[in-house]
Amino acid sequence: MPRIAYVNGAYVPHADAAIHIEDRGYQFADGVYEVCEIRHGFIVDLTRHLDRLGRSLSELRIDWPMSRAALTHVIREVVRRNRVRNGLFYMQVTRGAARRDHVFPAKGTVPTIVVTAKRTDTAVIAKKGAEGIAAITVPENRWDRVDIKSVGLLPNVLARQKAKEEGAHEAIFVDPDGTVKEGAATNVWIVDRDGVLRTRPADHGILRGITRTTLMDVAGPLGIKIEERAFSIDEMLAAREVFITAATSICFPVVSIDGKPIGNGHPGSIAQNIREAFFDVAEKTLI
Ligand code: PDD
Repeated sequence: MPRIAYVNGAYVPHADAAIHIEDRGYQFADGVYEVCEIRHGFIVDLTRHLDRLGRSLSELRIDWPMSRAALTHVIREVVRRNRVRNGLFYMQVTRGAARRDHVFPAKGTVPTIVVTAKRTDTAVIAKKGAEGIAAITVPENRWDRVDIKSVGLLPNVLARQKAKEEGAHEAIFVDPDGTVKEGAATNVWIVDRDGVLRTRPADHGILRGITRTTLMDVAGPLGIKIEERAFSIDEMLAAREVFITAATSICFPVVSIDGKPIGNGHPGSIAQNIREAFFDVAEKTLI
């Protein structure tokens, strides 16, 4: 079955989908994106993903490419046309195509919008969720507006590649003072020595993950105490549990960091419980 992409008003075969060579996303990473999970035929947390898209666009002063209702229609159509029941959709909006110049293009330049969808291997994801993953730490080297979900991801790309080359799944950015930030494409959580589930406040320095926000709704009813409080690399290495969250994986236990085991070196029960309860609590939009 051919894959279908949506590009600037048209549904086109994925292999033929293209944007202009002077698109500002291509030349300046002048654009934003969202990745959202599709599970059992439902889009997960669509409202929150669209809210965050709106915030990213507004922070960069890029116009919405179409109304929110129209975009929701396009997303559902792309997911349907690709017959994805378990997978992801990706959407990217850039400031549009214009003659290369760092300053914003003329008013009326139309934002570029791309929406794609793909299936994921649920067995591979379930295995990592059950067995846990290895992570490494890397020095933070990103700009200070990582709260914007911009397509400028070069430090994240290099960090993930380094993790892969070292046999790990994720790279965790750490500030020079030893404070843990987030993963290259995930938020990071610990269960500290007192049994408190902690993640760094999302006021600055990290992306406010949608999975992170929904996880807070999940943890309350499970009786888990949560604190938005930063932690150091030493606290992370000494934690009872460490896990990472993102729309692509929901919650993966981290069983080793920089080659050192976390806790007893096996996934912890809190990560497991959260993983199991997540979809009962998350918003589900029928495709
Ligand atoms: N990344 N932090 C960073 C730097 C991220 O890139 C992501 C998501 C997250 C988690 O956000 P959410 O829970 O909303 O997925 C945190 C996506 C999945 C990606 O780039 O593929």
